Amino acid sequence: MYKKLGEQLRKPSGLSGVIVSKMMDSWNKEFYKKIIFNLDIKKDDKIFEIGYGPGLGINLIAKMNIGCTISGLDYSELMQKKAIKRNQKFVDGGIVHLKYGDILFYEVGNEKFHKVFCVNVIYFWNDLNKVFQKIYSMLSDGGMYSIYMDHEKDFEKLKFTKDFCRYSIENVESELKGVGFTKVEYILDKGYFIKAIK
Ligand SMILES: C[S@@+](CC[C@H](N)C(=O)[O-])C[C@H]1O[C@@H](n2cnc3c(N)ncnc32)[C@H](O)[C@@H]1O
Repeated sequence: MYKKLGEQLRKPSGLSGVIVSKMMDSWNKEFYKKIIFNLDIKKDDKIFEIGYGPGLGINLIAKMNIGCTISGLDYSELMQKKAIKRNQKFVDGGIVHLKYGDILFYEVGNEKFHKVFCVNVIYFWNDLNKVFQKIYSMLSDGGMYSIYMDHEKDFEKLKFTKDFCRYSIENVESELKGVGFTKVEYILDKGYFIKAIK
């Protein structure tokens, strides 16, 4: 049962995925609110979320009506469907663009983003260097990459996180600096809110 929950959090699908996505909405809302506040979104900003799940974070940003555009990538077909449904009005209005795909194999084009972020997704990437290199190249100069991740010690108490990659803050900081991010800051507030500047 715990293994199944971990698998669903990694890539939600089917009826269990629908249930797990409701759990994610209630577990992660406060992290989204904080990370969005820290993103300091401005008019005309181009934002990108990796692993948008059921699209709550994207919806919170779109509803702020700041005049930014928000794109996202998720490799769960179910999550793409749910996120589009939740954000239909903004998708139709050309404010939100929800793509389907795996960040590990995502072809970064010429489009540049001011801010890239992810909430509770980093544990599913076993090659941080590869993902961080992509994110670095997607950002405009001075752009920000913002991450929320739980403290790895919290995973010790949770049975469903057995197969998750357990990164320490030191691991993540050194991988971010390794791909070229110049300034990396973080605060610990339940989990880590990390901010890296290109
Ligand atoms: C634990 S859920 C978190 C969802 C959402 N960020 C939230 O906080 O509610 C992880 C999400 O990341 C997506 N994901 C995991 N690895 C991914 C990858 N390599 N590429 C794209 N999406 C990925 C999953 O499909 C899932 O929707």
